[in-house]
Amino acid sequence: MIKMSEYAKRRKELIQTIGPTGIAILPAAPEVPRNGDAVYPYRQNSDFYYLTGFEEPEAVVILAPKRKEGEYLLFNRVRDRDREIWDGPRAGQEGAVNDFLADQAFPISELESMLPELLAGRESIHYSLGLNKHFDKLLLNAVNNIRARIRSGLQAPIAFIDIAPSLHEMRLFKSAAEIAVMQKAVDITEKAHLRAMEVCEPGMYEYQLEAELMYAFIRNGARFPAYNPIVGAGRNTCILHYVNNNQKIADGDMVLIDAGAEYQNYAADVTRTFPANGRFSAEQRAIYELVLDAQMAAIKAVKPGAAWTAPQNVIVKIITQGLIDLGILKGNLDDLIEKQAYFPFYMHRSGHWLGLDVHDVGCYRVNKKWRPFEPGMVLTVEPGIYISADIPGVPKRWHNIGVRIEDNVVVTEKGRDVLSQRIPKTVADIEAVMKK
Ligand code: GLY
Ligand code: MN
Ligand code: MN
Repeated sequence: MIKMSEYAKRRKELIQTIGPTGIAILPAAPEVPRNGDAVYPYRQNSDFYYLTGFEEPEAVVILAPKRKEGEYLLFNRVRDRDREIWDGPRAGQEGAVNDFLADQAFPISELESMLPELLAGRESIHYSLGLNKHFDKLLLNAVNNIRARIRSGLQAPIAFIDIAPSLHEMRLFKSAAEIAVMQKAVDITEKAHLRAMEVCEPGMYEYQLEAELMYAFIRNGARFPAYNPIVGAGRNTCILHYVNNNQKIADGDMVLIDAGAEYQNYAADVTRTFPANGRFSAEQRAIYELVLDAQMAAIKAVKPGAAWTAPQNVIVKIITQGLIDLGILKGNLDDLIEKQAYFPFYMHRSGHWLGLDVHDVGCYRVNKKWRPFEPGMVLTVEPGIYISADIPGVPKRWHNIGVRIEDNVVVTEKGRDVLSQRIPKTVADIEAVMKK
């Protein structure tokens, strides 16, 4: 659990960054209609959550440096006995102040009328224009309202500055408390992957494995996955973001599961691949061990000072050499790398930042250079080889073998920690788990 004092520290840091003449504004995520009266399960906007820990919709946070009545304002829903009987408790303004440490809290219905006075006299508005059209309009109306009143001495802001770069740079570096929450997301994910491996057998449907994953997630306190689980067997292992999960698993298929729990809004993102019948064939083993070699070497390449591209370079080299050794690619290593001959088999990058979002925020390049790893960054390392049957010139015995192995890695002072290291991934460990 992340303490309220940590959210306060983040707000203070952001206030320092925007300076005394700015003001920051972030709306909560809107509720999203699904069909009829039903809405999708509510998920707070990650930026908003990062600054507040507040999970209700219909809320807006304003950070107004040096404002004498208080710098942290939360506009949120009022307590409403009738609504709370239907939808559950609300913090209200009292809760916003007492539990979420707002300096002042106001009913969300008062935001529109209060915005002009809050913005007047501020030089810059720190806000991500274009992401929430409804809120953009509300904000621009408030600015126009001030412009119309300049003869009475009001000063309208002269700049909109995207809040994302500074906020996302903060989010890129995880605190010890965040890493502990992410470890919990990964630990729940471990239970889910183990369960799927243990119960898998030919003849099951992909969604039946998905059901095992979801059971383990929810049973262990993660109500939702961090993204739609990918459960593909046979040819479906070669579809990178396969989510139909509705085919029957055959004897001799590989099964690829890319699934991670979301815990306290933090994501795990783990992939394991295994043979449906619990024993790797010679071809499956050869491809699997090649991906595993590449993955382990890539994880070792993650360390402070190494460039973001270091793991990818290691993967490309090992996979290309491996495909040559297996006779799937023909030619000289350097030429084949130069020509990207690996691309039909490995067409994605080595991974991404991980945090509140599964593809988390943070720049990958700074000053036109791939950025170096620094302690506190969390990323995935997830090479794969996907031998789709329609790649020309590949002997049939390799067809429909898709393998991805994905772990979650924290950069430390000394190197790296692998949060998901306990989830079985060697051939021996997987076969031992699957032994009936
Ligand atoms: N689960 C999506 C990804 O691995 O990036
Ligand atoms: Mn994944
Ligand atoms: Mn991933």
